[in-house]
Amino acid sequence: MKVVKAELEHVAVKPEQYPVNRLPELALAGRSNVGKSSFINKMLNRKGLARTSGQPGKTQTLNFYEINEILYFVDVPGYGYAKVSKTERAAWGKMIETYLSEREELKAVLQLIDARHKPSEDDKLMYNWMKHFGIPVILVATKADKISRSKWQKHLSIISKELDREETDPLLLFSSETGYGKEEAWKTIQSHLQL
Ligand code: GTP
Ligand code: MG
Repeated sequence: MKVVKAELEHVAVKPEQYPVNRLPELALAGRSNVGKSSFINKMLNRKGLARTSGQPGKTQTLNFYEINEILYFVDVPGYGYAKVSKTERAAWGKMIETYLSEREELKAVLQLIDARHKPSEDDKLMYNWMKHFGIPVILVATKADKISRSKWQKHLSIISKELDREETDPLLLFSSETGYGKEEAWKTIQSHLQL
């Protein structure tokens, strides 16, 4: 997809702050530091539009990026980040849960998993939780540039097996560093959203 317009239009911590123009939404979920904000920037060709950081816990609100006036990417705070207080974590958890389980405009979730490692317990919990709610998931294995090509297939099969992936949930490989997988990701998104 050719991105001609991409802006951060809404920042929300509660439903009253979500957009009201009823465009389809696609949310990014994944462990802190897995590359959610970097994924958004690469897909939109906008360096620095979504704030990224080597420090986990950068994204702390629901950030709605409107694309070509036809859909939103929703950047979501990452899970599994230890350095926040319990109270803070509980509040984030509630904010994310409310959004993912109740939002009608949410058409699918892009769940990002680090391609280098086996899915964590949190990754599995997240995937199963979304399956429980019947949310379509597009799995994206990130940081592909950090493993050699000869190992890609093996790492993908491990991720697929460990998550007990449903066949209808695609599993893609991606690198925000090189742009690998970008076209495939757009194709998959467009077919899921029927754009
Ligand atoms: P939170 O907002 O904390 O949940 O993190 P996030 O998932 O948004 O991660 P972010 O995009 O901020 O990236 C975290 C770090 O990983 C940054 O230093 C990025 O440059 C790096 N990174 C992200 N994607 C890739 C990738 O595909 N390849 C490589 N080599 N580094 C990446
Ligand atoms: Mg982020």
